[in-house]
Amino acid sequence: MGENEAAWITAPAAYPFTVNSAPKPKPGAGEVVIKNAAVAINPVDWKIQSLGGYINKYPFILGEDAAGIVEDVGPGVSRFKKGHRVIAHCNGLMTQDPANSSFQLYPVVTEALVAELPDSLTFEEGSVLPLAISTACAGLYQKDRLGLPLPVVDGAEPTGQTIVVWGGASSVGATVIQLAVASGVTVLTTASPANHDFVKSLGAQIVFDYRSSDVVQDTVKALASTNFAGVYDAISEDTSFKAISAILDGLNMTVNVASVLPYDKPTERFAPKYVNEAISATVLAYSIIQEPHSAIGEWIWGKYVPLALANGSFKAKPEPLVVGNGLKDIQKGLDVQKKGVSAKKVVIAI
Ligand SMILES: NC(=O)c1ccc[n+]([C@@H]2O[C@H](COP(=O)([O-])OP(=O)(O)OC[C@H]3O[C@@H](n4cnc5c(N)ncnc54)[C@H](OP(=O)(O)O)[C@@H]3O)[C@@H](O)[C@H]2O)c1
Repeated sequence: MGENEAAWITAPAAYPFTVNSAPKPKPGAGEVVIKNAAVAINPVDWKIQSLGGYINKYPFILGEDAAGIVEDVGPGVSRFKKGHRVIAHCNGLMTQDPANSSFQLYPVVTEALVAELPDSLTFEEGSVLPLAISTACAGLYQKDRLGLPLPVVDGAEPTGQTIVVWGGASSVGATVIQLAVASGVTVLTTASPANHDFVKSLGAQIVFDYRSSDVVQDTVKALASTNFAGVYDAISEDTSFKAISAILDGLNMTVNVASVLPYDKPTERFAPKYVNEAISATVLAYSIIQEPHSAIGEWIWGKYVPLALANGSFKAKPEPLVVGNGLKDIQKGLDVQKKGVSAKKVVIAI
């Protein structure tokens, strides 16, 4: 193992990151050290840098998504050996330990959030998925959210249900569509017209333009004859909350709504449930590896993801947009993601 280095956030709102040495990682029980090959950038990274929150101490290392090669494993690790190609949802924001975050050469990650990456996918492609997977699953599968049946690798039994995925071209939305389809559910989604073919390629059956003045009435009409079972709001901004609330009003019904950001004006009909629990220990969808939801994490990370990536039924989407190479370019990655992307995941090769 070479020396470790990281892109550090040295103090609240510090900009840009400082690339400097980092402690040599030591895997504890159930932990995996990864030699990073690619990291993806998430909105939460620039939100923390701009607005604070989530972190109790500085300096810290951000980053949730890693793809690379297993360098070392701790006691009790059963699924991985040195040399395995993997993707990982890095859990530094859960543990508040910078060693567990991805913006460094050698992150240490709990085995529960690691999956093997097949040779058919590059590290850059694989890196787009990890946080999106956990976030999608917290909303789709926790009994207190949409509570769908877990996804299967080879052709799901149709449940007869339809769900709405608001924002299907987003990173989280693209994974939600694929997993919902693998759970046997029909998906109606929203995206810009340029991304309609993209969301259909992921398995969505119906897609509407969220900017159209008819989107609410078109959705109400399309859902009227279905067994409408819930909404996953992958955007969770005023416009999506307003549209989904109007759809439920139009149908005169209530369904479970999972949201990626909290909503503070719930009504009897429209009360979105944030995919994260309210307490800091379960930020960023780590709840799927914690009780009472850990069976979800075991199935998804331990079985479904490696098998479905290997047989091609689960695709590494949206496409990576590689904007740099090395830890020095991670700040640029945050800047590009903050400006906004369309059906792309910002990635830095390491
Ligand atoms: N709670 C958690 O654990 C958690 C985890 C991950 C992400 N998040 C949050 O989830 C949100 C999405 O993250 P992300 O990484 O998936 O974002 P992203 O990929 O950067 O989102 C960009 C996409 O969103 C779509 N979009 C934007 N506004 C929309 C709207 N009003 N209606 C429908 N689609 C819209 C755009 O679609 P078009 O290009 O088709 O216009 C674009 O492709 C962020 O706020 C993030 O902080 C929360």
